[in-house]
Amino acid sequence: MNKSVLINNQINNFKKKSIKVDGDKSLSIRFILLSSLSKGRCTASNLLRSEDVQSTINSIQKLGIKIKLRNDHCEVNGKGLYGLKFKKNLVLNLENSGTAARLMFSMVSNSNYWVKITGDKSLRKRDMGRVIKPLKLFGIRFKKNNTKLPIWIKGPKLLKPIKYTENLGSAQCKSAMMIAALRANGKTELKCLPSRNHTEIMFKNVFKIPIKVKKEKDYDIIKVRGINEFKGFNYKIPGDISSASFFIVLTLLSKKNSLLIRNININPSRTGILKILNIMGAQIRILKKKYYKGEQIADLLVKSNKNLKAINLSPKLNSSAIDEFLLIFLVASVSKGVSTFRNLSELNKKESKRLNWGIKILKMMNIKVRKIKNDGIKIWGNPNLKLKKSFIVKNFLRDHRIFMVSTIAALTLGGNWKIHDADCFKTSFPKYLRILNSLGAKIR
Ligand code: S3P
Repeated sequence: MNKSVLINNQINNFKKKSIKVDGDKSLSIRFILLSSLSKGRCTASNLLRSEDVQSTINSIQKLGIKIKLRNDHCEVNGKGLYGLKFKKNLVLNLENSGTAARLMFSMVSNSNYWVKITGDKSLRKRDMGRVIKPLKLFGIRFKKNNTKLPIWIKGPKLLKPIKYTENLGSAQCKSAMMIAALRANGKTELKCLPSRNHTEIMFKNVFKIPIKVKKEKDYDIIKVRGINEFKGFNYKIPGDISSASFFIVLTLLSKKNSLLIRNININPSRTGILKILNIMGAQIRILKKKYYKGEQIADLLVKSNKNLKAINLSPKLNSSAIDEFLLIFLVASVSKGVSTFRNLSELNKKESKRLNWGIKILKMMNIKVRKIKNDGIKIWGNPNLKLKKSFIVKNFLRDHRIFMVSTIAALTLGGNWKIHDADCFKTSFPKYLRILNSLGAKIR
């Protein structure tokens, strides 16, 4: 049944002043995949128990790996680089997760039978050609020439190392190639536009896999040497900055609130949202910063601020804020001046066409917004914006981030909102509504 939420009231003063959000999605998916390839027992605490992570777990279990779960604690018994079991007619359904699906292509690269990889309605619309192209160079075989799921894969035991330039700035592409490189006999050399670097950090700091990363002009040069088995490992997953961002913007745009968000991964390849909001005047503070296995973790302190100013964003910051643009557009819509964003074609390749949806939601709120050349948009902010009308948000392919950003608009700007697909936030952030309500949101 398609449930919806109704929001008719803005949020008042928060009841709580400090929260913890769910574990990081990128790290949770990487933990499940990579631990299954290790030789030994791996544990993780604070694993994100969301639908995207669950579909990753289901698929890895289908590949013969034992996984034990107790709340957010997880134990995986890795069987080494060649330990996954492939049955005939195997189907792996990654549901909504682009990351899990694209990385799964190289996980099953040594299957002797065709493995079918598929997903839900949204994932079946997304381009897989971006990973198929480089993976074919490693020697991985694809049954048909299509670039959309379902896709059938099998491959030789030993892959060939490759040299490849990745020009999308996609962490999923880069990581799919890095996982393939684990089974390639020799040195793989990747020249990648910057994107989140969790896989590089895990390879180097957790698995001690021979990997070299250096900067060369606009690119990261990544060299990985296969074939090296790695041992079991223990991992503590920090909170997800993409989930924290909804509460950062909720606090920023509400009245006279302050909120401490504890234990957040502030890897610089993910903190574009902090840099962007601070340029706009937000003054978000980073407290108790520490290092953990190559990642950076801190508490974030944010305060309400009605004096935000527009931004002319350098596209260099796009990749480190790639999942936060709907929130950034919302902040721009109440900031003083005209904001400009460019080179955002990747946004229309996410769970839904997020650039188009951003424009649609802002227009619905009577904000002047225009598409400009090079997949950009201009937003004319209105710092006095107060919504009074009724709004319905529906048919957004169950995109979790569209659901959540709509709730933040409703709770901070007013109006009567009906937002469909009320359970889709469980894709990435199952505790979302519970935390909102603990702050006083009263969402049923
Ligand atoms: C992810 C990479 C990003 C991001 C996605 C998660 C990852 O996509 O949008 O939500 O965990 O690697 P790109 O492949 O476009 O970088």
